[in-house]
Amino acid sequence: MPVKLTPERSANSRPVHLIAKGSLDRSGLPAPVLSWAKANSFTGEEGRTLLLADPEGNVSGALFGLGDQSGGHLPMLPGALARTLPEGDWHFAAPPADAENAALGLLLGGYAFTAYGRKPQRDIRFALPEGADRARAERLAEGVFLARDLINTPTNDMGPDDVETAARNLAGQHGADVQVIAGDELLARNFPMIHAVGRAAAQAPRLIDIRWGAPQAPKVTLVGKGVCFDTGGLDIKPASSMLLMKKDMGGAANVMGLAHMVMAAKLPVRLRVILPVVENSIAGNAFRPSDILRSRKGLTVEVGNTDAEGRLILGDALAYGDEEEPDLMIDMATLTGAARVALGPDLPPFFTDDEALAADLMQASVAAADPLWRMPLWMPYDGKYSSKVADINNVNTDGFAGAIIAALFLKRFVGKAKAWAHFDVFGWSPSDRPHGIAGGEAQAIRALEQVISARYPA
Ligand code: BES
Ligand code: MN
Ligand code: ZN
Repeated sequence: MPVKLTPERSANSRPVHLIAKGSLDRSGLPAPVLSWAKANSFTGEEGRTLLLADPEGNVSGALFGLGDQSGGHLPMLPGALARTLPEGDWHFAAPPADAENAALGLLLGGYAFTAYGRKPQRDIRFALPEGADRARAERLAEGVFLARDLINTPTNDMGPDDVETAARNLAGQHGADVQVIAGDELLARNFPMIHAVGRAAAQAPRLIDIRWGAPQAPKVTLVGKGVCFDTGGLDIKPASSMLLMKKDMGGAANVMGLAHMVMAAKLPVRLRVILPVVENSIAGNAFRPSDILRSRKGLTVEVGNTDAEGRLILGDALAYGDEEEPDLMIDMATLTGAARVALGPDLPPFFTDDEALAADLMQASVAAADPLWRMPLWMPYDGKYSSKVADINNVNTDGFAGAIIAALFLKRFVGKAKAWAHFDVFGWSPSDRPHGIAGGEAQAIRALEQVISARYPA
């Protein structure tokens, strides 16, 4: 990791002074520092770093602006320091208000995707601020980095075979069990929709099933959409919409990141990770608009649009997970463009009928600085994806409420789980933020880790 949290501050460590906007004069810093700040018009602007030098011209410290903190609080703002400080040893002159998130922000802010030759971020050793848990911050950062790396890797190196390898690596790291059902075996084992969506691709469609933890512990099941690339299928996407579709396995990537956090913390749960992994490709054997699929659950599904493929593979995967009546079932998916229209790329919606779970998630979202917003499973819209020939269609035709319709479609495949929530994530950050550069992004999993670890404490 380019940023390393160190338990102790070294002798030559330099201080970062956190300055709220307009508070410089009350900071108690020596007069030369104050005039240097004034000469540079530094007033504590949000996210701004101003380096300080000693008389020999060596960097001796830094000021970091916290802004006026009016736009909600930004606990991970100090993460920007990972990319503005020169390399070497640093510490906070005084612990930040939210030491836990500041420490995690520093780790996350130091991420770079280096597999294709880009330079890593500079090496910074930062003394762990008082009040932060180093092992926990590292667990969370590893989970986030796993999700980012999986999403950032283009499909030529992250097809279904490679996602399976990544899942086996993750399982191997934690002593988990993996089973994979692939290709025509999906038909024999009754996963018709996963097979239909993925059968036209060069790499076989598959269902990856990871199990970890004591069999009698509370069952937590994570399901992630693993569409390694979404061309749209025969209802092909235009070039501009297809460009980013290597990230359509973002649900699977996020779920793997979350699984790492749970297993590394050794939480007392029986964890299950179910990943339907396919490429939505075009070939002579591709599934077609108007095809009718008989799902694992028994519902017949008319394909109104081959680009609404995520809900098809998730339908079979959720039905499978639901069969053993988990205590908590979570699915994550880059499911709809409509969720982005509603809330934008940085605020993923979740859907659940479980009021206690919704409340826990909203609270955890604030505490973990991991934005989430609840949207409704609005039953009056449930008739909108009806079919004249099958039980249901995979799309509605009026174009309204696309994220809700997709969530209601998924709900048809869940019934026995004691609690279920669906997360429609973007899995991508279009711009740099303090705690991470533009590119593949973990969303909702730090909030979920809080909920799961609070419900099932180690
Ligand atoms: N993977 C896409 C959804 C998506 C698109 C997520 C862009 C993030 C950014 C999904 O498979 C899809 O194509 N959904 C369609 C559904 C439509 C055909 C009902 C969509 O959202 O346009
Ligand atoms: Mn699609
Ligand atoms: Zn998709």
